Amino acid sequence: MTAMISATDLRKTYGKKRALDGFTLSVDEGTVCGLLGPNGAGKTTAVRILATLLKADSGNASIAGHDLTTDAGRVRAAIGFTGQFSAVDEILTGRQNLDMFARLYHLDRRQARQRTDELLDRFALHDAADRPAGGYSGGMRRRLDLAVSLILAPRVLFLDEPTTGLDPRTRAEVWTDIRELVSAGTTVLLTTQYLDEADHLADQIAVIDSGTIIARGTPRELKESVGGDRIELALRDEEQTNAAARIVAAATGTDPGIDLHRRRVSAPAPERFHSLSTTMRQLHEAGIDPEDVALRQPTLDDVFIKLTDREEKTA
Ligand SMILES: Nc1ncnc2c1ncn2[C@@H]1O[C@H](COP(=O)(O)OP(=O)(O)OP(=O)(O)O)[C@@H](O)[C@H]1O
Ligand SMILES: [Mg+2]
Repeated sequence: MTAMISATDLRKTYGKKRALDGFTLSVDEGTVCGLLGPNGAGKTTAVRILATLLKADSGNASIAGHDLTTDAGRVRAAIGFTGQFSAVDEILTGRQNLDMFARLYHLDRRQARQRTDELLDRFALHDAADRPAGGYSGGMRRRLDLAVSLILAPRVLFLDEPTTGLDPRTRAEVWTDIRELVSAGTTVLLTTQYLDEADHLADQIAVIDSGTIIARGTPRELKESVGGDRIELALRDEEQTNAAARIVAAATGTDPGIDLHRRRVSAPAPERFHSLSTTMRQLHEAGIDPEDVALRQPTLDDVFIKLTDREEKTA
């Protein structure tokens, strides 16, 4: 596979603040890389540098094989960018916004009109096309933003928090749009603070903290790095919680976590359903009937919490 985005040891400081501190990343063609990290981690800085909107202090990067510093024009021709904050002109209508950007990208009048129509259709904005964008809902604005970044069908698309502030249904629609683009061959680097978004969309996830990538892998690999499936039980009272914990320990051969206050027991399930059924049988024999039982895969939340914990300890 070819790397469509390649960055090596990018550094950027704002005054004394190190926003990027040796940022290295490579994204294969036709894949989605989710750049995940807490507020201030350096996500926007990284994406703005890669999209030629900001200069790094040092380091190298290339997009679609074009060097970011020596070939910025070619990089710009290959990319689309949707920023964290909306770039639509509120006074213009949706249609006028698209048309204006299309003309800025040197499409002629006829091409611009045609592309505008296609994009209004694709992003279900036809009905609102002739209303000023200032009156659009957050979701409609985001879709218009996305549409603008797609006027030239970019090979590489940078999306900075594409769904922040959207309701769950609109988020799901934006996810579908992004997936369609990727199946047509676009490479996407998207930043997000939503772990489920990265889980749904990303082929690879890079976790960034303090300007550096601290973990990298598929969603599955990252989840496996914090351990396999777990049994989780909710009990009626403290006494049953303690009793259940002893049974779980014996049934799974592991050391369960106990939260007496919330009356919960959680333990690794090395043999998954077998561990669960053994546990359930022994609980039943002891006359314990849990209020809730689950065999749960680790989530990216677990990954995130664990990584951040480790960071704090080594910091
Ligand atoms: N123009 C600027 N001037 C000074 N400091 C800045 C500037 N832009 C960003 N920073 C700082 O650089 C660091 C990284 O910021 P950045 O915006 O890249 O983070 P982020 O991961 O995108 O955060 P968020 O999740 O809040 O969008 C932060 O500490 C931020 O305060
Ligand atoms: Mg940001």
